[in-house]
Amino acid sequence: MTGASKLDFTGNRAAVGPQNAGPQNVGARNDNAQNCNVALVGFGTVGSSVARILCERSNTHLRLTHILNRNVERKKVDWLPPSVQWTENIDDILSSGVDIVVEVMGGLQPTEDWIRRALESGKSVVTANKQLIANCGPELISLARQMKQQIVFGASVAGGVPVISGLHEGLAGDELFKVCGILNGTCNYILSQIEANGIPFATALREAQKLGFAEADPTEDIDGLDARAKLTILARVGLHCNVRPESIVARSISKIDSVDFEYAHQLGYTIRQISWAELKTESNTTSKGDELFAAVQPALVELASPLARVEGSQNLVMATGTYGGETVFGGHGAGGHPTAVAVLSDILAIARSKQTGTSYSGQPVEKTPTVTADFTTKHYLRFLVKDRPGIIASLATILSQCGINIDSVLQKPGCPKSHLPFLITLEECQASLVEKALERINSLDFLVQPCSHLPIV
Ligand SMILES: NC(=O)c1ccc[n+]([C@@H]2O[C@H](COP(=O)([O-])OP(=O)(O)OC[C@H]3O[C@@H](n4cnc5c(N)ncnc54)[C@H](OP(=O)(O)O)[C@@H]3O)[C@@H](O)[C@H]2O)c1
Repeated sequence: MTGASKLDFTGNRAAVGPQNAGPQNVGARNDNAQNCNVALVGFGTVGSSVARILCERSNTHLRLTHILNRNVERKKVDWLPPSVQWTENIDDILSSGVDIVVEVMGGLQPTEDWIRRALESGKSVVTANKQLIANCGPELISLARQMKQQIVFGASVAGGVPVISGLHEGLAGDELFKVCGILNGTCNYILSQIEANGIPFATALREAQKLGFAEADPTEDIDGLDARAKLTILARVGLHCNVRPESIVARSISKIDSVDFEYAHQLGYTIRQISWAELKTESNTTSKGDELFAAVQPALVELASPLARVEGSQNLVMATGTYGGETVFGGHGAGGHPTAVAVLSDILAIARSKQTGTSYSGQPVEKTPTVTADFTTKHYLRFLVKDRPGIIASLATILSQCGINIDSVLQKPGCPKSHLPFLITLEECQASLVEKALERINSLDFLVQPCSHLPIV
């Protein structure tokens, strides 16, 4: 890196003379410890916000040298310095003097390949890609170590909320045993809308799509796969557990109905998509060996809990440690600018560590636990039945035969007898016992639809 100055990021094109910052500078290695060359791979929502902040924050020593995108011509903007090299070819970046490759393109391939090649070319990497880190994080971190580079992924969980650095650094002195939270803004928005307006799930989803809060294909969000990738990363960083995303149970929010909120409110609860990972302790298991309770699922949470107060597309993560107790991280879980802030923070952390010679990325993963969703909690069972005498007695018989105690029964008055909703709550018991009971219950002929089962956390 040569004569480029901080002025590259003022956005003031007149301030950047081509003699200082022309493409001829871009290929040179950055020998100046003060400056750091950055390449953006992907110029969409997050990538353009990263570029915008880099432009507007004039006091930074970071220098954006390359932007890669497919069909790049249509992506070019006039607010970036002319020194930036726009490209469709990753080799232009890999053979250049770039210090940090910022991957904000998404997807698993060719992304993984490109990140590997960037590390092998002696470049550090910042990524916001939760699926990639959930699936290939340990291998990429190990490659980064081998190459004496870093890969940092603060924006991959909860967007602009600094939960990864909070767990990795801020709470490193504690022994964390639980992380739980609301990690998917789309689900939270949809559930909040069903709750506030009493609308069906399908209507809430359509509205979320119209407003840009949900993708055209919302499966990843609705079925919990997006949150599961994030929980996998939190379990690695916070609990030092190396788990595969597919080992964590993910349940859809699509069966939640407005009547569930009515019942939940009567009980002093609301419903949220909760991501939960908790290490086995003597009090929550009887099994031997490392065990991680983990699931992403809709659940009842107390109205007084911070989880219940997360509105719209916000995210919240609660980390619990042996010594420090509970710490809560909250804020914007998505959006171009909030996510770009997290990306920038990672770039700055790498740039700082390059200057001081310290490493930022190494996540000490110590355990490879067995993963189970067999939490012991209270449970909520909501039925829709064709009414007739003896229904409660039949259900109570099966539940008691499975060793489960009923806590309460609640029926909404004034509903048609052909579609009568009512609810049973259960005393604390293992989820597997309830599932066993439901296998029998769901074949009973008075049920209009299968029972809806939610844990009460
Ligand atoms: N958006 C958020 O709020 C948010 C929050 C946290 C994390 N993230 C993560 O950040 C990453 C980027 O998200 P985003 O919302 O910015 O996505 P986006 O708006 O779709 O941007 C992705 C960009 O990458 C380009 N691209 C995709 N595949 C490519 C390929 N094979 N070759 C070259 N260019 C390619 C796209 O080009 P086209 O224009 O041709 O599609 C687009 O410009 C994802 O990993 C996402 O999970 C996003």
